[in-house]
Amino acid sequence: MLPGLVDTGFITLRPYGQALDPAQWEGLTYLDWKSGGDTNFAVLASANGEDDPRGFWEHGLPDKDGVWTVNAQTAPVLRDWVTAVGARYGRVRIIKLQPSTDSASVIERYLHQDDNNRLNPEGEGRVVRAWLNLTDNPDSYMILREDRDDPATEHRIPLPMGAQFVVDTERLWHAVYHVGDAPRYAMIASFECGPALQDWIDANAVTEAAPPATQLA
Ligand SMILES: [Fe+2]
Repeated sequence: MLPGLVDTGFITLRPYGQALDPAQWEGLTYLDWKSGGDTNFAVLASANGEDDPRGFWEHGLPDKDGVWTVNAQTAPVLRDWVTAVGARYGRVRIIKLQPSTDSASVIERYLHQDDNNRLNPEGEGRVVRAWLNLTDNPDSYMILREDRDDPATEHRIPLPMGAQFVVDTERLWHAVYHVGDAPRYAMIASFECGPALQDWIDANAVTEAAPPATQLA
């Protein structure tokens, strides 16, 4: 486990530094798959390269060594973002999230923990998830809670275009509250904790231009 993740369960990084072209995600094949709201998912890397949104454990595998799907051919910039991290990656998906009704119902209905480490071999690095927010949703945010029922444990990560962050989603309860009248798109990739992921996190450390997530009083 990486030191920064041990402390809080999440790390906010500086934003992605290049323009993002909607052609990278709007032309992909999206599946009807509900997780954390009214969602669809496009699979970029799966357990076997098939267009399968399920967890790798459905194939008897840990969430590592993802195989690129046909979708990835349409999204070379996003594929390169994943490989440039340099760490072992598993499932990679684009989430398309329709606007939320209100934050209270997001907390009530959609806060959840992931199951990233099912079948992860003893002694190997823990699997966490990294996000790249693709659409510009500065008023939307990811809600993180250490304790599902305790708002005092809540942090919020705003979601402007290019927002990058890493979350131990098996530890933290999480869901996105998305405002606006258009879907929010983001890439979600599973990574193995280890020196490579730490190097990437260090290289993308927060600066004054990208303050860390706000903590509620
Ligand atoms: Fe999740």
